[in-house]
Amino acid sequence: MSSPNLGGEREKLVSKLPAHLQQALKVRAAQLQIDMQDAVAEGIHAWRSCGDQLPAVSTAGADSFGTYLPEGLYEDFKTDCRDRGVSYIQGLAQSVVLWLADNPAEVQKTTRRYIVCNQKGGVGKTAVSAGLAEALAEGPSLVGAVDQAKNSGLRVLLVDYDPQGHLTHQLGLTAIPAGQESLITHMLHREQAKQPLLNLTIAISGDRFGGRLRILPAAFDAFLLDSGLTVFRGPREAALERALAPLEEHFDVIVVDSPPSLGLAMDAALSYARQRGDEPPGSSGLVIPVEAEDTSAQAYGMLIQQIDSLSRDFDMTIDQLGIVVNKFDSRRGYIATSSLEKWKALGTPPVLAVVPDVKEQREAVRKQRPLLDYAPDCEQSHQMRQIARGVTAT
Ligand SMILES: Nc1ncnc2c1ncn2[C@@H]1O[C@H](COP(=O)(O)OP(=O)(O)OP(=O)(O)O)[C@@H](O)[C@H]1O
Ligand SMILES: [Mg+2]
Repeated sequence: MSSPNLGGEREKLVSKLPAHLQQALKVRAAQLQIDMQDAVAEGIHAWRSCGDQLPAVSTAGADSFGTYLPEGLYEDFKTDCRDRGVSYIQGLAQSVVLWLADNPAEVQKTTRRYIVCNQKGGVGKTAVSAGLAEALAEGPSLVGAVDQAKNSGLRVLLVDYDPQGHLTHQLGLTAIPAGQESLITHMLHREQAKQPLLNLTIAISGDRFGGRLRILPAAFDAFLLDSGLTVFRGPREAALERALAPLEEHFDVIVVDSPPSLGLAMDAALSYARQRGDEPPGSSGLVIPVEAEDTSAQAYGMLIQQIDSLSRDFDMTIDQLGIVVNKFDSRRGYIATSSLEKWKALGTPPVLAVVPDVKEQREAVRKQRPLLDYAPDCEQSHQMRQIARGVTAT
């Protein structure tokens, strides 16, 4: 029997193949944009030329499977099966397994983007941005959030997107003076940029980060970002994405510490967290620090409105990865405990961690050292690792 419309004479192969191999073959061929019949033919060619004894593949309960092979290949294959003393079904299963092994799925590598935001001031955006980034960059002690293949921390960029420059200062650095090249230049006046943005990033010291953690310092000019964006010629909401895009190949994760505001600059930050077409839901998104008290709940409501209108206006999906209830102190009584319950009752987004109000965070800030380097075993550091595990779980 030959296939009439396949370009070149082909013969039908009718055999059996376990359902999971049929599925894997179908998905992989689609991912690599290869015709399934060509994949099977390649597998059979590889099987025929393979001199080694191949391990037996379980074919129990195999379902019927048919495809078209180039003329003559099926006969040659059957002859080889007889010579090797394996059934046709076993030979075909081994061929498909060989093809799958020779044609691994392309790893979809997009940089995860976490925007730490809340227009309410002082809730812990900077503390959470730094702690999350440090936890992600940390070595193998962070089971779950590390790059399992490398068994090491991730390459993380912290972006100080707040003109106040707290993050920059807390890590012992100084903000970029007004008028000098910075993230703002790359967002608003790309034609004036003289160097790649990567040159402006600085490594954060600390053995546990292994040079994997870098920061793009704040710029005093960032105070002008909102007004600059008002007159910006081009898609304003994409301004941050455009500026940071060239950095993405250098980092596994980019964490943005946002200012306490809801202006155009924040629209650009929220948009940067949008779900891209080639990435699964939840791989990038917002991390929202809040406190366990009533005004935090009101502020969260406003943030949600902003996210909703941005999503509608630009037809984008912005995932909220989770809430971090920060500076929690149950000794504050009913307000604190009932607020915490309300945050937990939201369910979506989930509460990623409850970070206690304890001294180490403030001490690390005073000493201008990363929290996880200054006090790696304190409860706050453990909660930062918990956040890292939570956001990388999807
Ligand atoms: N869990 C915590 N325990 C104790 N102190 C904390 C904790 N989290 C943050 N702080 C302290 O609270 C203050 C405000 O925190 P932070 O600067 O992170 O908030 P923020 O939301 O970034 O503020 P802003 O809106 O001004 O950017 C800082 O002094 C910080 O060190
Ligand atoms: Mg801050």
